[in-house]
Amino acid sequence: MADPRILLVIGGGIAAYKSCELVRLIRKGGGSVACVLTEGGSHFVTAMTLAALSENPVHTTLWDLKNEVEMGHIQLSRAADLVVVCPATADLMAKMAAGIADDLATTLLLATDKPVLAVPAMNVRMWQHPATRRNVATLRASGVTVMEPDEGAMACGEFGPGRLPEPEAVWAEIGAALATHGHSQPLEGQPDFAPERHRPLFGKHVLITAGPTHEPIDPVRYIANRSSGKQGFAIAAAAAEAGARVTLVAGPVHLPTPPGVDRVDVETARQMAAAVEAALPADVAVMVAAVADWRAAEEAGQKLKKDGSGKVPPLHLAENPDILAALAQSPQRPRLLVGFAAETERVIDHATAKRARKGADWIVANDVSGDVMGGHANAVHIITASGTESLPEMPKEDVARALVERIADAFA
Ligand code: C5P
Repeated sequence: MADPRILLVIGGGIAAYKSCELVRLIRKGGGSVACVLTEGGSHFVTAMTLAALSENPVHTTLWDLKNEVEMGHIQLSRAADLVVVCPATADLMAKMAAGIADDLATTLLLATDKPVLAVPAMNVRMWQHPATRRNVATLRASGVTVMEPDEGAMACGEFGPGRLPEPEAVWAEIGAALATHGHSQPLEGQPDFAPERHRPLFGKHVLITAGPTHEPIDPVRYIANRSSGKQGFAIAAAAAEAGARVTLVAGPVHLPTPPGVDRVDVETARQMAAAVEAALPADVAVMVAAVADWRAAEEAGQKLKKDGSGKVPPLHLAENPDILAALAQSPQRPRLLVGFAAETERVIDHATAKRARKGADWIVANDVSGDVMGGHANAVHIITASGTESLPEMPKEDVARALVERIADAFA
């Protein structure tokens, strides 16, 4: 098969904006896209945007004489290798299941002889409604691939399954569907793991802490450390790519939120501990944050001043809660608890002791005597009950993927 041709039907929901990113991924991956924009979809994205991104005319109506002369709707429905409905709204899937053909999109979907992939996005109650359950079952029974929506916070303010999977996950599913239907060419941007395993953490909640904490001394000064948050953010991104619902509790860092990740920003260790507790239950917790061990025992209400006498003010410290150790003792302890250990000497010995002391299942140990903190690369040892696995130095994104793969294996 030559470069894959995708017919993309865009339903009317807020998630329609993500279809623009999907068009970009398909184009970047070597495929071509023709878009069909429903009336509902046109309230969220414009035909102009889709035409510019796809570099193809966008089809919007059954009643376009010019198009019916140039390319009839029957022909359009068959000119693609795969029809993708994204987002597939509850209404669109109901019509598909019932065989209703009252606009261009539904007519094409009824007329096509090509495989169809539907990517649902809707409010959680709509997704769980018996009518939608029936429609999804009918569609699956008739050979339509219906992806599971992601779980998490939604635009409507509710929470649960119904969120459109990230465009990268849809693109991976498109690759899998094309492979099933005989397309064997490699497509750029597809994950390296087998298509059927591309969301191995689907249905799991992964809780991650990342970055430093800032412990105030007075309104303008604080105690901090050199953690950049890069490793923790990379793990959050990799877990989301693997299909997990991810809560990322982030200390003060300058990093963008990875796609599909629910982020909670905090400043201090005590705020981080509270945010971790509020995010429970979780199946996996990966505590990557470099939490400050101590905070100023008392935070001055006003800026501390030099008084000219040369006397320095005392700085008394108090110990911060150990979030990892507390989680290990919690009645809501995640099934897999992973800690990090930044060491500057006898890395494996110290980390092995830390695993026992903190009650973690795994400790990921790294030597931070070089420029790991803030740098792009990391060399880690994964210490588990059954031994130590040492990985060579690699970019933090690759460390993240390696760790997430092992987490997925542990749940397989
Ligand atoms: O004791 P140490 O700070 O070296 O332990 C590191 C591990 O413990 C990391 O996983 C870190 O996120 C976690 N930690 C924590 N709360 C603290 C201190 C460390 O969760 N107060």
